[in-house]
Amino acid sequence: MKRSDFPANFIWGTATSAYQIEGAVSEDGRGPSIWDTFSHTPGKTKGGDHGDVACDHYHRYPEDIALMKELGVNAYRFSVAWPRILPEGRGRVNPRGLDFYNRLVDALLEQGITPWATLYHWDLPQSLEDQGGWPSRETAYAFAEYADLVTRHLGDRVKHWITLNEPWCSAYLGYHAGIHAPGQQNFKHSIWASHHLLLAHGLAVPVIRRNVTGARVGITLNLSPGYPASPDPADVAAARRFDGFQNRWYLDPLYGLGYPADMLALYGEAPSVQGDDLITIAAPTDFLGINYYSRAVVRNSDLEPYRFQYVRVGEEHTDMDWEVYPEGLYDLLIRLGREYRPKAIYITENGAAYPDAVADDGGIHDLERVRYFQRHLALCLEALQHGAPLKGYFAWSLLDNFEWAEGYAKRFGLVYVDFPSQRRRIKASGYWFRDFLREAVASS
Ligand code: FCB
Repeated sequence: MKRSDFPANFIWGTATSAYQIEGAVSEDGRGPSIWDTFSHTPGKTKGGDHGDVACDHYHRYPEDIALMKELGVNAYRFSVAWPRILPEGRGRVNPRGLDFYNRLVDALLEQGITPWATLYHWDLPQSLEDQGGWPSRETAYAFAEYADLVTRHLGDRVKHWITLNEPWCSAYLGYHAGIHAPGQQNFKHSIWASHHLLLAHGLAVPVIRRNVTGARVGITLNLSPGYPASPDPADVAAARRFDGFQNRWYLDPLYGLGYPADMLALYGEAPSVQGDDLITIAAPTDFLGINYYSRAVVRNSDLEPYRFQYVRVGEEHTDMDWEVYPEGLYDLLIRLGREYRPKAIYITENGAAYPDAVADDGGIHDLERVRYFQRHLALCLEALQHGAPLKGYFAWSLLDNFEWAEGYAKRFGLVYVDFPSQRRRIKASGYWFRDFLREAVASS
């Protein structure tokens, strides 16, 4: 497998998100987000870690862009921090927040790296959470205002826009499982949140198109194929429920099918749809972003409301304890192309955490991560050859960073970060990616 096996116009990038790397949480007028509050609440993140400093990217972005240049990527997916732009979530604009992204975008373009901006990667302004957060419909309207503001300022230079990152995580992990900000455990709220997130996306799509000439707009979902733990029909039905919970609940309304009837029946909970919401949500997009890390294997369970249980399988697992299963990415790409027919698919995240350490020779020999990338890319290529409309691939992540509830314990970077000194060192996987992009190596 070589770079030239992929189409010449294939996008090769790295991805990050604002709260995970920027730090500078009280600088230049940024307001607090739900992740500041959550991570500073005792017991919520591993070791009490928070993003106050993170990778200090807010100050070190020129160095980080130089690293991307060295890797040879042609695109960079970052997220804009809503609370930097609108410290209270709505109303008062903070021009210094916009200035930061102006500088970042200009610096990327100077290096020939195409900016791909995500508008929401989980850092909801705290004051919007105080007014009800995503379970409140008002938050969707607030998002459309924020999208309007950001795209009016950056849209002359940024053409690729992702509305939301992984609404499943915001809705389920944030409002039902309670393991992400804001840490609620309320099923009904999570269902309402999912609807208002999708509505926020749908409201923002035409706003972005209006503001940005030549816009390419999409959404990023974290999708995972689900397989039954056994051929028992009860397990097969459980895998179907998992698929409804993780994938179809988002895909179906986005592609004009409304919420899946089997899931509505299972949940017994209506997602507060009003008027033309489903038409708004199904606004045509230019691409579907998918974040793929692993598959799920499930068996039947009586536990309400989802009625499935995860089963740990496989031989190989990453430091997140996620099974390494590249075939799941292939299955997913083929299925999406056939069932939903997106105009284009970009893998907006794919990567792995391993317990990296700096060796005596000063290198970081993360050969398992190299293997992970090679195996996933090989299956991307196969899916492409079998007709999947795959147009690009972003490795997660450029840097080791604040991995949400896992704090700094989980390292996903192509570049190692020594957090006390903020020194960056390219890992073996980063050099492998560079060589692959330069085509200096054949990788399998
Ligand atoms: C995804 C998130 C990203 C990162 C990776 C490991 O769910 O979008 O921010 O945490 O997982």
